[in-house]
Amino acid sequence: QGDKLWGGRFVGDTDPVMEKFNASISYDQRMWDADIRGSKAYVKALEKAELVTTEEMNSILQGMDQVSQEWSKGAFVIKPGDEDIHTANERRLKELIGVPAGKLHTGRSRNDQVVTDMRLWLRDAISVLTENTLQLVSTMVERAAVEIDVLFPGYTHMQRAQPIRWSHWILSHAVALSRDVDQLQEIKRRVNVLPLGRYAVNTRPLAYTPAHLPFTVSINTLHKLVDDSLIFQRSEFLFWASLCLTHLSKMAEDLMLYSTKEFSFLMLSDAYSTGSSLMPQKKNADSLELIRSKAGRVFGRCAGFMMTLKGLPSTYNKDLQEDKEAMFDCYDTVHAVLQVMAGVMSTLKINQSVMEAALSPDMLATDVAYYLVRKGVPFREAHGMSGKVVVMAESKQIPLNQLTVEDLSTISPLFESDVSSVWDYRSSVEQYSAPGGTAKSSVTAQVEQLRNWLAKK
Ligand code: ARG
Repeated sequence: QGDKLWGGRFVGDTDPVMEKFNASISYDQRMWDADIRGSKAYVKALEKAELVTTEEMNSILQGMDQVSQEWSKGAFVIKPGDEDIHTANERRLKELIGVPAGKLHTGRSRNDQVVTDMRLWLRDAISVLTENTLQLVSTMVERAAVEIDVLFPGYTHMQRAQPIRWSHWILSHAVALSRDVDQLQEIKRRVNVLPLGRYAVNTRPLAYTPAHLPFTVSINTLHKLVDDSLIFQRSEFLFWASLCLTHLSKMAEDLMLYSTKEFSFLMLSDAYSTGSSLMPQKKNADSLELIRSKAGRVFGRCAGFMMTLKGLPSTYNKDLQEDKEAMFDCYDTVHAVLQVMAGVMSTLKINQSVMEAALSPDMLATDVAYYLVRKGVPFREAHGMSGKVVVMAESKQIPLNQLTVEDLSTISPLFESDVSSVWDYRSSVEQYSAPGGTAKSSVTAQVEQLRNWLAKK
């Protein structure tokens, strides 16, 4: 084990199965660039503190540039002893520049590298996911603007509730995603704290602060390394991914239902559907089903990592190496889901006449109650009377709007011929003109609000 970074105190060899079991290089090589950036910043701080000479620093910087080139060309050769990305890069640096490579690790632990690299990787990951989410929100907002005149049933408990604008539905999901973006920005602010030089337990005994990284400095070394970086930060990102996919899974579920023959409100583009090898007529919403399933996958990653954390003692334990696969997998999954959903939303076709034909007069029962409220009836009583109107229509097996004023006046003498004004879906939605409502003016205001929000991002 003599050639290992920690091999000094070892006499016996690592068991080959254990060697593989212990290694994280197969997945953490993904942070090769962050690891090199971290080391380059670190060696500059070492030079400032006069722990390496300018010459040694330059040799390390050049060596690291060469290692970087090898990675980007796909020419970096991983050797059997390369336990993780940190070990691999330093091993290669030593091969390239010799002795000065051994000075790079002065006052630094691999834990420092793990958390620094992940912070650098996460900054980029967050930027990409922010961009993906903004793209999706923008697609949805513009679609909502174009299709603002389309009405369709709003549902609760999957039962017809009240007529709403299709755009109102779209924007409800766009707003949820905009909150996800805001939360991601919050996370980014906390990611931008420098953990480097925090060691495994204590800070470095030699006074210097690594500069050249886009971070502020942390408060407590014990807290910073494990709790803040490995526990809080990982969890926070995994929670975020879970919440974001909760939103997208819910949206996918609605769309899937609306795309069934039974609803026929909309049709997915061929680009986001697949067929059946047996039944030629089938067009399946696989894109949406997969989005729904990916939510399960991400929750599983998040829950799995939480299980890993439970019961761990203070500071670093090797269990924490499990963070990376969860983080990378959640990133890849959310990254793909956001792009597919943007594709689905920009290409689906709606069927306006079917959506509007799905509205039924019973969905105006709340408006019947408001009609009575406007005539001075307390809402509770008006609600009860409107309920009786619904029962009457049901027992006569006719739609609500075909009850005569005579029929209605047996329930309340306040029903007069002006009740006919209630039976209009467009004027029904127009009543909801308060902020956030489904009236055209309110939905237009929501579009504007989201456009302004997008413009500031
Ligand atoms: N590959 C390890 C990880 O990702 C590196 C940290 C090793 N630190 C240690 N104290 N053994 O967690």
